[in-house]
Amino acid sequence: MITKHIKADDAAFLQEAADIIASGGTVIFPTETVYGLGANALDKNAVAKIFEAKGRPADNPLIVHIADVSELDSVAKDVPEEAYELFRRYSPGPLTVVLKRDDNIPAEISAGLDTVAVRIPSHPIANALIKLSSCPIAAPSANVSGKPSPTCYAHVKDEMDGRVDMIIDGGESDIGLESTVVSLAGEEPILLRPGAITLRQLEDVLGRVALSHSIFAKYDGTAASPGMKYRHYAPKAKVVLVRGYDAEVRSFIKSKIRLKGDCGVLCFDGEEDFFCEAVTRPYGTPSEPRTLAHNLFDALRYFDSTPVSVIYARVADGDGIEMAVLNRLIKAAGFTVIEV
Ligand code: TXA
Ligand code: MG
Repeated sequence: MITKHIKADDAAFLQEAADIIASGGTVIFPTETVYGLGANALDKNAVAKIFEAKGRPADNPLIVHIADVSELDSVAKDVPEEAYELFRRYSPGPLTVVLKRDDNIPAEISAGLDTVAVRIPSHPIANALIKLSSCPIAAPSANVSGKPSPTCYAHVKDEMDGRVDMIIDGGESDIGLESTVVSLAGEEPILLRPGAITLRQLEDVLGRVALSHSIFAKYDGTAASPGMKYRHYAPKAKVVLVRGYDAEVRSFIKSKIRLKGDCGVLCFDGEEDFFCEAVTRPYGTPSEPRTLAHNLFDALRYFDSTPVSVIYARVADGDGIEMAVLNRLIKAAGFTVIEV
């Protein structure tokens, strides 16, 4: 397959991209969270191409993207009032709500579940693409299954070339982590994946929201979100997450650096000098957790271009977007967390 690469500021491109979607093809497009790999959500043959392009297991369901809350009833049914309220407050934006699936939506999208995950992206290219295609767009993150999600064109340029019909270069994703996923399809609201819309923001609308245990713990066979059971966000090197007081974490990591250049440290800004024998990648400071979120996946991908075989990772504590960063790092580390 030959992939056409275009820039988001190319005037004629968007209609062409929409025509590809409407006729059953695949397009990688920017969103405010991460890049998505989209196809017509009403066409199960097009949806099958997404799974193939990513090498994604068929039992991991996809998110359906719509342009406006007025389209919600065409993809979901028995929509509770709380869902409208959530979308009114936090969309367009980084929020996905799991609801009962409308019969319009092929079962393959949801891996056979009777639910569907719905999101209204705020990125102008994503929004315009949905409108011009005249259909909802199914789109997972545009990475090969298991890799960190792409947050800029450079991440998809080579990895996905030849796997999709078109790739739109839309610069850097603003947020850098995938959307918050909350389920309203069960007895009680459950947070399935933390993101930029925080637990507190959800609770402002929903009251108490339960946390899926698969957010921070290994999948035990009962996760409500099937995607949670797969190894995720993983660079080639082994990732080890180290938590504790700053000074102790630093000296623990320092004590692990033996072979020069074999060890990577995903550190905070200004810490590079502590780990001078290692390959360091600062990704922000704990006082600005949005920056940590924005830089995380690019930093993990950076280590793939270095010879390191292990990456020690620093992480910030907090109940805002820090929770999402911690969740992605725990998955990247395959649950290897050292408390010092
Ligand atoms: O920010 C995002 O959400 C990005 C952009 C492209 O919109 N998309 C994204 O999609 O991250 P993906 O496929 O990489 O992650 C979707 C997550 C998975 O963990 C999946 O298991 C869960 O949402 N999910 C999808 N449909 C579901 C459903 N019906 N029930 C429960 N979980 C669902
Ligand atoms: Mg993904």
